[in-house]
Amino acid sequence: MSAVLKKLMFSSLIGISIGSALFAPNAEAEEPAAKPKKVDIIAHRGASGYAPENTMAAFEKALQMKADYIELDVQMSKDGELVIIHDTTVNRTTDIDSELPVAVKNLTLAELRKLDAGSFFAPQFAGERIPTFEEVLDRYKGKIGMLIELKEPARYPGIEEKVSAALKERRMDKPKNGKIIVQSFDFNSVYKIHQLLPSMPTGVLTSKAADLTDAKLKEFSGYAKYVNTNLKNVTADPTLVPRIHALGMKITPWTVRSRDEVSPLLKAGVDGIVTDFPDYVPKKVR
Ligand code: G3P
Ligand code: CA
Repeated sequence: MSAVLKKLMFSSLIGISIGSALFAPNAEAEEPAAKPKKVDIIAHRGASGYAPENTMAAFEKALQMKADYIELDVQMSKDGELVIIHDTTVNRTTDIDSELPVAVKNLTLAELRKLDAGSFFAPQFAGERIPTFEEVLDRYKGKIGMLIELKEPARYPGIEEKVSAALKERRMDKPKNGKIIVQSFDFNSVYKIHQLLPSMPTGVLTSKAADLTDAKLKEFSGYAKYVNTNLKNVTADPTLVPRIHALGMKITPWTVRSRDEVSPLLKAGVDGIVTDFPDYVPKKVR
């Protein structure tokens, strides 16, 4: 075979194979990788894995770590001031000198402010104080979202009115003025907030699977924008997130304290993740 003929045959073969690759009806087109859904990072009691929970140090750390929200627990002092603390007693998170439980509601603001709320976590946080609600609002308004939990509000008659007034005073009750959500395990309290601040997004908190039936979710959707439950309920029931979304609500489950808890929640399609460690949520989904 002449050299010219060989060259011609070779080029035709190449041509045929390129043509088949481009035009073959069964050629597998590569799917573009789906963009991962962005989720809100909610620093639980502030970045409480790195600084004492519910203190300015923990909220500051959350801001530095670029969390989308800080989560905070609101209660009331004996003299009616709103304060930020998780337990209904001060013993676990302060240096109160008492063997017996001391209730938040039995101390005045001045007494609460004297307590050290940092050294229980680590010595370098000694001197951290229990913040007031107003102090947190003033410091973080417009800087970071706030997921405000009313903790055991039935202990504090009038707490919903006080929280609403503090938000209204600062014009933080309108969704366009920042990411503010009020939530509680006490459904009556959530309903009350919805009545007081109709344009404020509210959230129902529950750890009970029995609260996550279609009928219950429908009821919540009448006054809440969020159903925030324990992350175990999300991984146990793959229908939960779609059922919440179908009713026009969102879900930010809690509380991520280990890196391997993140991925199942992302796969389930949650809207946010409540975590003590904001850096556990990968950058690509933020
Ligand atoms: O945001 C949800 C979460 O804060 C509820 O649990 O006990 O940490 O207040 P807890
Ligand atoms: Ca909380």
